[in-house]
Amino acid sequence: MQNPFVFGRPVWPDEPFCDREKEIKDWAARMENGEPVVIMSPRRYGKTSIMRRVEASFAQKRYAHIWIDLMKCASIKDFIRVLHLETEKNYSLAKKFFEKGKRSVRSANRLRPGATFSPADGGAMSLSLAISDGLRDWPTLLEDALNRLLALDKTFDRIAVFFDEFQDVRRISKSLDDELALERVMRSVLQYRSAKVSLAFMGSMRHLLQNIFLDEAAPFYRSSSLLELGPLPLEPYEEFINGHFGFKDAEDRLIPWVIWKFFDAHPHAVIKTASFLWSRAHRKHFKSNEVRIDAVADCIADVLTGEIEFYLERNRRLSPQAILFLREVAHHHGSLVSPYGKEVQKATGLSVKEIQNLLPGLQENGHIRVRQIFPQEGKASRLEIAFGDPLEKVVYALSYRTEPEVQVIVRQTVEHLWREKKEDHG
Ligand SMILES: Nc1ncnc2c1ncn2[C@@H]1O[C@H](COP(=O)(O)OP(=O)(O)OP(=O)(O)O)[C@@H](O)[C@H]1O
Ligand SMILES: [Mg+2]
Repeated sequence: MQNPFVFGRPVWPDEPFCDREKEIKDWAARMENGEPVVIMSPRRYGKTSIMRRVEASFAQKRYAHIWIDLMKCASIKDFIRVLHLETEKNYSLAKKFFEKGKRSVRSANRLRPGATFSPADGGAMSLSLAISDGLRDWPTLLEDALNRLLALDKTFDRIAVFFDEFQDVRRISKSLDDELALERVMRSVLQYRSAKVSLAFMGSMRHLLQNIFLDEAAPFYRSSSLLELGPLPLEPYEEFINGHFGFKDAEDRLIPWVIWKFFDAHPHAVIKTASFLWSRAHRKHFKSNEVRIDAVADCIADVLTGEIEFYLERNRRLSPQAILFLREVAHHHGSLVSPYGKEVQKATGLSVKEIQNLLPGLQENGHIRVRQIFPQEGKASRLEIAFGDPLEKVVYALSYRTEPEVQVIVRQTVEHLWREKKEDHG
């Protein structure tokens, strides 16, 4: 039997997926109503996979699918080019598929990336020439690109437009004299969209997204509803795992809880661990509890080792001070009150000034969330620091350990969780 747990890429609508029914229904209803949505979550929470299901649930089967990943754009020119490519892809799909009446565009859209379009299909070649035409300025080119996109409404019943990692709009407009100019042009064209156009802005950096959509001075101020995608809920995850593995035995049925708890419900990590377990354990029939715990601990340790590498690579440019600070937050189970306190200074060797300098950058880049809390009336407020991404927390609690040490800690933690859960049941 094929491994039902997909990881490392979005899960397509025809593949097994765990829950998220509420989100799919809610986001689809909003998008079909023409209400722009902003979806915020840490990386690899399932945003893309959910959105694919949202589209598949649209009542209008002839929909255009426009996906722009701003993380991949190095400049405004790149952004305009991708807008054109995505738009022309839809014009040419429409021509190929439903004008000739062969297939619905919906089934065309369900083709997976890579199989859909070559730039030569559409008008993209001439358009990219136009982009290199230095006589025209970027705002005009961007307006043209967006208007061409909006005009898809003459061909399709619905246009679903996704701006992924949208906070990067700020990165690509850094070089402009007016950093908000790009957003301003976008807003000014997009506000004249027809009711057929559904907009979704997605991203992993909550703080920046809030600046874009909640700051009065920003062009997109209050233009969209901000929605947060949380981690994977326990019950559906238990059902998903127990169902696919066919776990009936009481000990077996503790497995999903242990994995879920270990990774703090991080969707990618808990699904990847299930996938490893599937490959390794041939689904079920553990000889003893010892073997079972071994198998689970090994899979968790394997996933964790990979994730430590992934995050350290991604965070290569963090300063040693930042890493020491994140590690300290991780040791406090991922949330820390009074980050300038004596205890933190002692543990990290950082001064109050150094910690103060670190916080804005760490917050902006989504590593931490900062919240003001008011413990008691009349008393001074305090800051609470928490990890934005629970998997990053697990990683920083262990990143300085050697691989054998990680294995031992994982094994001990898994045994501990197992015992805790059993006592709970007892
Ligand atoms: N509900 C779910 N059911 C099954 N797998 C899931 C679910 N949610 C997330 N995943 C897992 O998370 C991985 C990432 O999913 P996806 O690419 O959709 O997330 P994303 O939030 O768009 O990520 P990125 O930040 O990289 O764009 C999938 O490969 C899958 O392993
Ligand atoms: Mg994605």
